[in-house]
Amino acid sequence: MERLMLIALRWSYRIIRPILFLFDSETIHIFFVRFGAGLAKTPGMRWFTEKLASNSIPSLVTTIAGITFPSPIGLGAGFDYEARLPEALPLFGFGFDTVGTITKGAYEGNRYPRLGRLIRSQSLVVNKGFKNLGIEATLEHLKHIHPIVPLGLSIGRTNTKTYTTHAEAIDDIVYSFKQAESSGVHISYYELNISCPNLSVPIEFYEPERLNDLLKAVTDIGLWRPVFIKMPIDKDDATIRAMLDVIVKHPIAGIIIGNLRKDRSTVIPEESDKYPRGGLSGVPCRDRSDELIRLAYERTGSTLAIIGCGGVFSAEDAYHKIRLGASLIQLITGLIFNGPFLPREIALGLEKLLERDGFANIADAVGIEAK
Ligand SMILES: Cc1cc2nc3c(=O)[nH]c(=O)nc-3n(C[C@H](O)[C@H](O)[C@H](O)COP(=O)(O)O)c2cc1C
Repeated sequence: MERLMLIALRWSYRIIRPILFLFDSETIHIFFVRFGAGLAKTPGMRWFTEKLASNSIPSLVTTIAGITFPSPIGLGAGFDYEARLPEALPLFGFGFDTVGTITKGAYEGNRYPRLGRLIRSQSLVVNKGFKNLGIEATLEHLKHIHPIVPLGLSIGRTNTKTYTTHAEAIDDIVYSFKQAESSGVHISYYELNISCPNLSVPIEFYEPERLNDLLKAVTDIGLWRPVFIKMPIDKDDATIRAMLDVIVKHPIAGIIIGNLRKDRSTVIPEESDKYPRGGLSGVPCRDRSDELIRLAYERTGSTLAIIGCGGVFSAEDAYHKIRLGASLIQLITGLIFNGPFLPREIALGLEKLLERDGFANIADAVGIEAK
């Protein structure tokens, strides 16, 4: 019955999608976030949402870094950057949410156009550069939120031209972590975003010594929530290996593989030329994300949990990442192309795939293809 309803919803979305795609991407994004936030406030909705979340598929319930996720499918950082959706997402089958990326200073976002749709390439061009309300305002808002599923807070450095050194960037990031840690908000874990390709000053932490300094400063705070590092996917294997070797030396719970892709060689130029600035999401990220999940699992699988992210549009895409080493999955672009109920569709699809392959729980399938 539920499967039939989801098929009907998918087709309804297919019918309205061309109309939605006539509008500017950012306008539609804001509309959907407001709609979702409004829906969550409808009388009786919290009761219903809690029931949905507690009625999870047993083979998909998984515990990572001490947190129990009712479904392994979560929302990637950048969609709910103002924390409007934590109470709405379980309605669509999400097992966790990510708020942010948030920075110490508020930022109104890079110049327009900063969000473009590449329909034939099944991708978005993103050039927001950490548009956000700033850590204080976000935490103030989060104080009134009681998430139904685990909530992660993504933290990055303020996108300002006045910072020019790594030490300044580290102080800026540490400030946000300290504020979040002492705020009493109901977050379950942190993401440390070091891989945004759209910042105005290229202060980077890919080089081992710099990454080590940053991780030392962040973990010296003595955070009691686990930290996941949002990794780049445009770096070569040697750089990623060197980064992993630094990460495992610190009390870091895991990594997210990964962020947007700068390389535009796989998209249709007539589509992407309209948006000269920005990183790509969706299908262009998929293969490199998969390659790096395998690489990371082989190198650090026993130490770091992996959240697979990039180009997940179906249960098969998610399952492939899981078999390569991901314990959890995040997505954004699949949602835009395949509709808001995609997380639940994926969960039902994963249940069948696990059953087909004789796995009692998703944890049994993690890394099975990488070993
Ligand atoms: C509109 C948009 C905004 C994003 N903003 C952020 C962000 O603030 N922080 C971050 O770590 N990743 C951000 N990302 C990257 C996503 O979290 C994700 O890594 C990437 O889109 C690949 O996943 P996907 O193919 O499922 O979209 C953003 C992506 C999109 C589409």
